[in-house]
Amino acid sequence: MKLKLPAPPIPPSFKPAPKRPGEKPLGPIGSAKEAGISAVDWVDERTSLSGAARWLMFRKVPKGTNWFYTLGSATMFAFLNQAVTGVFLAMYYDPSATNAYESARYITNEAFLGEFVRGMHKWGSSVMVILVFLHMGRTFFFGAYKYPRELNWVVGAVLLVLTMLMSFTGYLLPFDQKSYWATIVGVNINGTGPLVGPYLNDFLLAGPGFGATTLSRFYAIHMLLVPGLIAALIGAHLYLVAKLGTTAPPWLKAEKNPELRKESA
Ligand code: HEM
Repeated sequence: MKLKLPAPPIPPSFKPAPKRPGEKPLGPIGSAKEAGISAVDWVDERTSLSGAARWLMFRKVPKGTNWFYTLGSATMFAFLNQAVTGVFLAMYYDPSATNAYESARYITNEAFLGEFVRGMHKWGSSVMVILVFLHMGRTFFFGAYKYPRELNWVVGAVLLVLTMLMSFTGYLLPFDQKSYWATIVGVNINGTGPLVGPYLNDFLLAGPGFGATTLSRFYAIHMLLVPGLIAALIGAHLYLVAKLGTTAPPWLKAEKNPELRKESA
């Protein structure tokens, strides 16, 4: 039998109190609140999106949920930081072999807040890689890869590969000595892979040798292809989290199940 759970509740602050006779007129804040509610109602009447938003946001979470469960959202916010700062960097960056280095130098030394935005993007990339590994560790050690969440683990594994691909393709973009030679080493390592290695090498080089076309290819992969895939897969990942719910911490499961308690004793 399928268990039918009641719809998630709407928090009281979202429900405007009904008007009482003789009530004083609303002040500016009250009117602004009413206007906001009417605008949301207007959109909802035409789209019925509030049901989906409630389904996604007001969920029951298992007892024992703790700070480790914030690592997935932290990874997502690190990705959003990369997306926003990346848009501003793309306004000044020139992916041509002759101008790439100079445009990166211009961003750091001359563009308004350029050093800050480039720093946020550079350090943010390391933060995202660290967070994605910590999040994967959390899901692994809490057993969240088991039935029925195997597919979400697979989606996560693809996200991990794509995150590493972002780091690899982004590293070349400043086009200085370090990024140039490090990327040559990386591409050569890819080329030694079994079966697909040489094809991958050809795809990444985008020409007979390492040069201007390689830089354009890396740039297109870095700022269009992979971020698009990551955004779509984060959507699928979150859909599965909302649909399946999160796993309870393993020590709680052991507490509930006397058999497991016996084993761990
Ligand atoms: C861009 C990378 C990623 C983002 C933005 C992301 C985001 C999230 C978020 C927001 C959650 C729900 C809250 C939480 O449990 O932390 C979650 C859950 C989950 N993630 Fe990720 N994730 C990413 C990568 C990964 C990786 C690399 C794996 C494993 C290979 C993974 C496997 C899972 C699993 C199995 C769950 C369900 C957890 C549970 O049921 O307790 N995710 N993810």
